[in-house]
Amino acid sequence: MTIPNMITIDGPAASGKSTLGKNLADWLDYLYFDTGVMYRAVTWAALHAGISMDDEAAVSALSETIDIDVLPPTQDDGRAYDVLADGQDITWDIRRAEVDGGVSVVAAYPGVRKALTAQQRRIGLRGKVVMVGRDIGTVVLPEADLKIYLEASVAERARRRFNEIKNRGGQASMDAIRENLMERDRIDSTRDVAPLCAAPDAIILDSDQMDANRVLEAAKKLVKKHQE
Ligand code: DC
Repeated sequence: MTIPNMITIDGPAASGKSTLGKNLADWLDYLYFDTGVMYRAVTWAALHAGISMDDEAAVSALSETIDIDVLPPTQDDGRAYDVLADGQDITWDIRRAEVDGGVSVVAAYPGVRKALTAQQRRIGLRGKVVMVGRDIGTVVLPEADLKIYLEASVAERARRRFNEIKNRGGQASMDAIRENLMERDRIDSTRDVAPLCAAPDAIILDSDQMDANRVLEAAKKLVKKHQE
């Protein structure tokens, strides 16, 4: 077999998908595409425009008109890419607690998913891509040749998210982070459209006892195995 052309990484919030996705894409010289950024950008734009998260029609309409761009990083401040919404740099704004609090509600709207899934699929089908999210192996790129589902316990994920925020110089409460992760997992995995779940042909990696390097090594092994 050949090197997998499309690699998908799905899993719950803060399970290490983004870190693995970026590292794996760098190793393969593939495009790294974190689809969560798009749901976050719509959520941020709705908050910015004063649209209520509960206003499904208005949020869905916004997702069809907003111009979201993900480009190589222009600043050396720890970002892996620039995120632009209608030309405005929102790279760090989309990581704010208000966005964390609303994004799962926004991501459950069928109209929002339809608009964003179409864009993600178009980019993914070009190949040479590591695409990260919740429904990539099941809905966005079901034909992908290597699918990874990354798991970790809530306690470990909360610990990682806490350290991430601290390292950026932010304020965080471990309890609030844990609550938010659990609530997002609940909404993401019980929604009607494209719920969070492993594709039947996904390989499940549990990263609880592994640091980022070991997770990358495990994923590299899967890529090499695919080539044999
Ligand atoms: O990976 P993340 O935490 O940045 O994702 C933010 C939210 O977006 C998450 O709560 C679920 C949603 N999401 C989704 O529903 N489908 C995707 N493919 C990616 C993210």
